[in-house]
Amino acid sequence: MRINQPIWGQAIERAPDYQPLRNDLRCDVAIVGGGIVGLHTAWSLRQSGLHVVVLEARRIGFQATGRSTAKVTSQHGLRYAQLIENHGKELAALYAEHNQRAVTAIAEIAREMPQGASFEERDAYVIARTDEEAAQLRAETDAARSLGLPATLELPKAFPIKVQSAMRFTGQGQFDPVAYQLGLAGLVARSATIFEDSRVISLEEGEPVILTVNNREVRAGKVIVATQMPIASQGKFFARAFPLAHAVAAAPCPDMALDGMFITAGSPSFSLRTAVKDGVRHLVAAGPEYMPGEPDGQAQAVASLLAFLRGNFALEPTHLWTNEDFRPLDGLPFVGQATGNSERLFIATGFDAWGITNSLVAGEVLAAAATGTEHPAAALFAPQRGSLWTGASEFLKGNARAGLHFVGDRVLRTKAGSVDEVQHGQGAVVSVKGEQLAVMRSADGTLSALSAVCTHMGCIVDWNDIDESWDCPCHGSRFDRDGGVIAGPATEPLARRELPRELGAE
Ligand code: FES
Repeated sequence: MRINQPIWGQAIERAPDYQPLRNDLRCDVAIVGGGIVGLHTAWSLRQSGLHVVVLEARRIGFQATGRSTAKVTSQHGLRYAQLIENHGKELAALYAEHNQRAVTAIAEIAREMPQGASFEERDAYVIARTDEEAAQLRAETDAARSLGLPATLELPKAFPIKVQSAMRFTGQGQFDPVAYQLGLAGLVARSATIFEDSRVISLEEGEPVILTVNNREVRAGKVIVATQMPIASQGKFFARAFPLAHAVAAAPCPDMALDGMFITAGSPSFSLRTAVKDGVRHLVAAGPEYMPGEPDGQAQAVASLLAFLRGNFALEPTHLWTNEDFRPLDGLPFVGQATGNSERLFIATGFDAWGITNSLVAGEVLAAAATGTEHPAAALFAPQRGSLWTGASEFLKGNARAGLHFVGDRVLRTKAGSVDEVQHGQGAVVSVKGEQLAVMRSADGTLSALSAVCTHMGCIVDWNDIDESWDCPCHGSRFDRDGGVIAGPATEPLARRELPRELGAE
């Protein structure tokens, strides 16, 4: 089984398509982050006449969305009954309408891309396996239908597991997320300038907003931060949405009877779709949610996913990876002004693992904000909305976890082991002379060390043995094995450290 290998491909297999930023520049709108939200924003600005610049820290296409299951659907699990309860029918209908419209819009955009980014129309099902789940599905189907969504209670025609009932959304879709983002970048590049390997490490809000990138300065009339969790501290979104992760696997399934996209109701939940890659049909499956930066939780989630695939489908995965997203305080993404006073700085975050259709809506909302117009969905996602404490108990659970890690890791040193315990090809946090180090032992036995202190706010990172990364449990920053930033809110790498010779260092 190939670990840290999303079936959609990896950046290392591909040369950059766009040059890094090498000169100071001025622009009307700078979009920080070339993922699906940033690209959809640039796409929505294509006829604005504005000078738009997209700044991607790594490679377009391979970050958060390139690690997802890439379902293009307004069916976001069991969402609508809860949305009505928490936010009222009017806002829930707005969410439904815009996400359903996004399915069609994305299908149309994909048609302009090479091989249509493998977009395929599929029905989306939520599967119930118990009486309690079946009752939930009845309520959810009623809620979704009342909002105008194409929902019915209907069993799938082809599904290998025995199910009690199912909620079907017709006319949804799935695509190859890397192909879609690369294709979208190609379309966007006709009207905007894209830079790769161009990490924004500082942002000064003013008129203009000043960004520091590759030791150069970008002066932008407006800035949109679309980095999954904003790298900008304005608005403190790292304290308003907490990180969550899933293990994802792909397994060849040439003859399996499965027609549609599926997610199981209840907990643990599994999400399924098929994808043809290199001529071979695969089942792509995401497993139960866990907290990133917690190796025990990740190990359990991986074991649960593998047992589900082996036990129900007799499938053996060939690819295994993890993904990450952020859950907002009240169940709705934050998209809009970073703070109540920010007239030039906008953000998007908190898509709660349903970021594909939401990214199109978010891109439209952000583009409207950048051009000083009002989008009909702006009120839905407004970061300064008044409903922030609805559903706060789960949020507080997640955020209390961040506090626990901060105190526990820094003061009690709960993770410290010894260098001898670090296996070949693995990493671990080790206490050396009072400092917590992120120690890695390569396949040939060579030891290397980094500070284990996250450069965002000082929590202690931990080893992710699936993706071979250092992940922070507090606000979800991720670092590669050499300490480079994979995902923020951190913008600076983990500091390098020398290991004493007596510990076996070269
Ligand atoms: Fe905030 Fe690490 S991500 S402390």
